[in-house]
Amino acid sequence: MTAVLADRVNDREKTAKRLLGSSAKNSYNPDLDIDWDSPEVPGRYHVQPERMTLYGTPIWDALTEAQRVELSKHEVISGARVGLWFEVLLMGMLAAHAYNQDPASLHTQYALTEIGDETRHSVMFARWADRYGGIDYKVHPVVHHLGKVFRLVAPTGPSMWAGTLVAEELLDRLQREGMNDERLQPLTRMVSKIHVVEEARHVRFAREELVRSMASTHWGPSRYFHRVFAALAAAFIVRSLVSPKVYASVGRDEKASRKAALANPSYQDTTRWMGEKIVPFLEEVGMVNRTARAIYKFVHLV
Ligand SMILES: [Fe+2]
Ligand SMILES: [Fe+2]
Repeated sequence: MTAVLADRVNDREKTAKRLLGSSAKNSYNPDLDIDWDSPEVPGRYHVQPERMTLYGTPIWDALTEAQRVELSKHEVISGARVGLWFEVLLMGMLAAHAYNQDPASLHTQYALTEIGDETRHSVMFARWADRYGGIDYKVHPVVHHLGKVFRLVAPTGPSMWAGTLVAEELLDRLQREGMNDERLQPLTRMVSKIHVVEEARHVRFAREELVRSMASTHWGPSRYFHRVFAALAAAFIVRSLVSPKVYASVGRDEKASRKAALANPSYQDTTRWMGEKIVPFLEEVGMVNRTARAIYKFVHLV
């Protein structure tokens, strides 16, 4: 491990001890900590409007204020659905990770604790969608099946942690900003706050594991594979965050709106902003080669 990377990690058990302590003190139960029956506040957005896919496009300009708010509800529910999709994959990978470790180690106990966090998050995201009519913005069937491949293959090396970090840090960026935004619905702000607090531990855990995993992956082709595999996972996550089906909620054509969203410079900026913390970290730890960089660029993560 190089000196720069060594600075990035503590002793594995020490980190786990700190994370377990924080989990014991600072965890939520969304069943009790969220008022699921609180009424929607008229006129308030569900996600920051300027972070929405169509913001600034002619389609956006033609929407009424009420339609923009309605669309924000569908975009946030779609994002939470993708979060749930990835969390279920992550729970499987963490369980497989724990299977190979000594259960007496704090590291294993933290991995199991994180599964507990993600279980509560996924139920929280499911209830959130339910609260607004229960539309299931599931990922494209191809992405759904690719997720199963990721769950099986990524744990063979660093792409498990790199892919996890991308999923966690992109959403974190959006939610960290959203939880303090008074223009947003109280429900969005509370869900965001719970997720931000608990995800901070997951990000610490995954960042250190990524560094360790890179340090123990010496074989060139394996390093190449995991760099590209992680970038492909990131690309599918980015492109899945907002389902094209959301546009039907405000009577717009799915295909045309999706096309406008992908070409929207404002949404491309938002995507780069979401990747601003994680992509430089991936570069620093050696996870970005030429091919991976081209993939990150293609989906506007850099
Ligand atoms: Fe989560
Ligand atoms: Fe997480």
